[in-house]
Amino acid sequence: MAGVIARVTGPVVIAEGLTDAKMYDVVRVGSLGLVGEIIRLVGGTATVQVYEDTTGIRPGDPVENTGQALSVELGPGLLKSIYDGVQRPLDVIQKAAGDFITRGAVAAPLDPKAKWEFTATAKVGSEVTAGTILGTVQETPIVLHKIMVPPGMRGTLKELKSGTYTVHDPIGSVTTAGGAVPLSLAQKWVVRVPRPVTQKLPPEIPLVTGQRVIDSFFPVAKGGTAAIPGPFGSGKTVTQQQLAKWADSDIVVYVGCGERGNEMTEVLATFPSLQDPKSKRPLMERTILIANTSNMPVAAREASVYTGITIAEYYRDMGYDVALMADSTSRWAEAMREISGRLEEMPGEEGYPAYLGRRVAEFYERAGRVVTLSPEGRMGSVSVIGAVSPPGGDTSEPVSQNTLRVTRVFWALDASLASRRHFPSINWLQSYSLYGNDLAPWYTKELSPEFVHLRQRALETLQKEAELQEIVQLVGVDALPEREKATLDVARMLREDFLQQSAYDEVDTYTSIQKQLRMLRTILAFGDREQEAIAKGSTVAALQRLPVRTKLSRMKWIPEAEMKTQFDQLDLEMTQAVAATAPGGS
Ligand SMILES: Nc1ncnc2c1ncn2[C@@H]1O[C@H](COP(=O)(O)OP(=O)(O)OP(=O)(O)O)[C@@H](O)[C@H]1O
Ligand SMILES: [Mg+2]
Repeated sequence: MAGVIARVTGPVVIAEGLTDAKMYDVVRVGSLGLVGEIIRLVGGTATVQVYEDTTGIRPGDPVENTGQALSVELGPGLLKSIYDGVQRPLDVIQKAAGDFITRGAVAAPLDPKAKWEFTATAKVGSEVTAGTILGTVQETPIVLHKIMVPPGMRGTLKELKSGTYTVHDPIGSVTTAGGAVPLSLAQKWVVRVPRPVTQKLPPEIPLVTGQRVIDSFFPVAKGGTAAIPGPFGSGKTVTQQQLAKWADSDIVVYVGCGERGNEMTEVLATFPSLQDPKSKRPLMERTILIANTSNMPVAAREASVYTGITIAEYYRDMGYDVALMADSTSRWAEAMREISGRLEEMPGEEGYPAYLGRRVAEFYERAGRVVTLSPEGRMGSVSVIGAVSPPGGDTSEPVSQNTLRVTRVFWALDASLASRRHFPSINWLQSYSLYGNDLAPWYTKELSPEFVHLRQRALETLQKEAELQEIVQLVGVDALPEREKATLDVARMLREDFLQQSAYDEVDTYTSIQKQLRMLRTILAFGDREQEAIAKGSTVAALQRLPVRTKLSRMKWIPEAEMKTQFDQLDLEMTQAVAATAPGGS
């Protein structure tokens, strides 16, 4: 049933007469048919947030209800795509209208003409349920797309044929209690409802990122959540991109909510040129980009995180580990605030809607390592890493606070570290990971029983450094006993030779967890030898002059392949050199 526009305020339209509408139905607004979504419904009066520019839309214009909730189309062709917040392919809409997005244009999320080679694997006549794998499509050279029975379907596989199909061609059918249901390569899912799972699993496996400060000190689990709040220019975007590139996830969903127009342009320019380090193929072959520039309507930005996480859940359901990066969620929250303002809702803290905390929590709760809906109990995960850009870097503001309440890892980016060119500028005294206990058995079993202990000692050394620095401020470093000078020496090695890691250095950009262990062990062993030598009368000054120190400071450039021999050699050399500095000799 068509309705009529009563009022327009920016991206929000009030419509009357949509008698059979439901909450979250998608409607087409005005003669252009702009895409909108019902976000409030009182009697026949619907409040609609419009995902497109509403210029020229007037009271009296028609509103058509599609009767369907905002959903995404899921199937082969998602990878390599760049979408706006409501899954319209940016390149298609841009081609259609120069650089302006054609309003009311309906661009299919998945190319309706593209043909895919489908290999059927399920047996005709077998019982199938949600998540049963029907067959596969080689979506890109590095990702095998598994075609699954959609959630809610159950029955007997009546027919299924391998062949070359478009995403909408019939590939077979299922006989269900309600009759025969056709199957195709694509399925739909509503974005605001999480895709169902059988069971959530504990976060026991780390998402290894190759970033030393993250993996060794503040790790995130597969299926875990992390927040990166940081002031302007502190490294949020570089960190997110390093994770996209290096984290051991199969699929990357990158949701960019740019504040400045050029920031998204940067992402759009960089991403397609990034290389996947493992396969040496373009990273886009396992990536989906969702881009919101500041000139796009706020409502689309509000929807973009849901579009992103729904796509992430779909690949999780295939059994993949998916990493979703949202940069920055502050822009998402601001979109919520603007829409809430238009709705004249009672504002909460700093004008954000009172439900900000709930929305943030609901979003991060969609992360997890799970047993998917599937007959064989396939496992997959969605890890969520959200950047937050608090104004002035002050994390006491509502978006940071509501995020930190639900995420279990906090990487505190620090402007003063960034200005001293200490990168990643993750502050080791303020950051934390609550996955330490869950992950400890994994490190002990898969890496070394030593690891958890080494990490603890390293963190304690850095804390001790902070305490000693307060004393040094008052009385000067010379007043410290040699023992404590040596602690400062080791802390400095930890900061400079371990924590500092350049995203732009070919070798340094990634460090395996095995090498991280060797590095930590070597630095702390040096500290132990130092203390022994000092007890025998050596001085920190003498220790700092040792030539082996230069070798230690070049540890990060030891090639992974030569790790064992080079570190063994280094350990030996350093032990002998340090012992030789003591007057007693070695
Ligand atoms: N790991 C790193 N290695 C080397 N340089 C880095 C690293 N992280 C950040 N930088 C430097 O800091 C600069 C700013 O980083 P980035 O753009 O990620 O900040 P941001 O927090 O996203 O900023 P904005 O608030 O503008 O979005 C980079 O251009 C780069 O020079
Ligand atoms: Mg940024």
